[in-house]
Amino acid sequence: MSLRVLTGITTTGTLHLGNYVGAVRRAIAASREPGAESFFFMADYHALIKCDEPDRIEASRLQIAATWLAAGLDTSRVVFYRQSDIPEIPELTWLLTCVTSKGQMNRAHAYKASVDANVAAGEDPDAGITMGLYSYPILMAADILLFNAHRVPVGKDQAQHIEMARDVAQRFNHTFGKGQEFFVLPEASIDQEMELLPGLDGRKMSKSYDNVIPLFEGGAKALREAIARIVTDSRLPGEPKETEGSHLVQIYDAFATPAQRKAFREALHAGLAWGEAKQQLFDVIDAEIGPMRARYDELMAHPERIEQILMEGAAKARTLAGPLLQRCREAVGLRRFQMLAAPVVTAAKAKTQVPGFKQYREADGQFYFKLLAADGTLLLQSQGLASGKDAGQWVSRLKREGQGALAEAPVVREADEATLTAALDALVTAEQEAAAQKG
Ligand code: TRP
Repeated sequence: MSLRVLTGITTTGTLHLGNYVGAVRRAIAASREPGAESFFFMADYHALIKCDEPDRIEASRLQIAATWLAAGLDTSRVVFYRQSDIPEIPELTWLLTCVTSKGQMNRAHAYKASVDANVAAGEDPDAGITMGLYSYPILMAADILLFNAHRVPVGKDQAQHIEMARDVAQRFNHTFGKGQEFFVLPEASIDQEMELLPGLDGRKMSKSYDNVIPLFEGGAKALREAIARIVTDSRLPGEPKETEGSHLVQIYDAFATPAQRKAFREALHAGLAWGEAKQQLFDVIDAEIGPMRARYDELMAHPERIEQILMEGAAKARTLAGPLLQRCREAVGLRRFQMLAAPVVTAAKAKTQVPGFKQYREADGQFYFKLLAADGTLLLQSQGLASGKDAGQWVSRLKREGQGALAEAPVVREADEATLTAALDALVTAEQEAAAQKG
């Protein structure tokens, strides 16, 4: 089997230039390598944990899907889908939830950070914490394990979740595997360079720092405006600029060829104005993402095309997920009821094989009873009794006491000792079972 790489993107916002450089571009490049089998999905169930604004969820998953497609994701080579189109994921989540210890979830960083923040604020430790936040590492484990991914490229903050996925996989394999393995144990590939693109102020580019350069949103105009806001030192045009440690240069590098990088540095050392440098930066970025932006706009104008692509992706994903989930369901005991190969004696059947009494009155006016085997063979025949009540009492006694009452009973034995013994024992057992059921 080829190396399976799986990437999930939580759909709560839009992607910025840092996401493009750190995640989208390299993931797409990796998916083009021979021998790799890539899975990309919109983690929209995860988005619900952080966001209760339906319109934002809807917009984000559309924009992110369009971004990946516009950036060159080749859906004939990769499996590209929305998490929420794969019902096997929440189903597996539950099977895994049932083998995951609560203590392990208590130690999850995301949950612990929220508890710590509550405690620091003097609040109840679990204030505002949903079960979604608490147990989302299990959902993430299901995302990964359902497709038997070998490698999961994630940021450092997600490394613990991959460890948890491995633990859960091992526990499930161990508990239900009977020697077979259901899941591949995934490995995190933590890319040190991931998300390292600096933002406008030189810190890591991040929405929470409000220092992002948009990727497609707002078009070329927004890109130009953001670049104009990149913080530089105050050296004047003509003064030599320091390129070492300049975040503007770092951003330039992320889009430039080695020759362009060299020329850019030389120009800055020779006194290139920051304003001019920003123009060159815009040019080099726009040369790469301009054509993608056109595709992005085209896709956003036709959501139905994206829908079509994602439905095809979901169908592909489900073809792979279905059989594994089926094996898991069977392993835990959620099996179809099927016709049995050989008949088995069930309780109901056993009952019909218990011998039975018949009571009746003869023409002589007397009352009689007899004991018949299940197949109708006569086992005991009573003498004539004065009343139906007498007959009934003997029948009850024989049912309760079996052989113990036989010696005194007014009956003629019509079968051999062994047959009678077995029949009377069966009667007593049936009587006891019936009593137990009533009680
Ligand atoms: N939780 C991840 C994040 O916040 C996104 C994600 C969900 C994911 N499921 C995944 C990443 C499975 C990798 C594999 O970044």
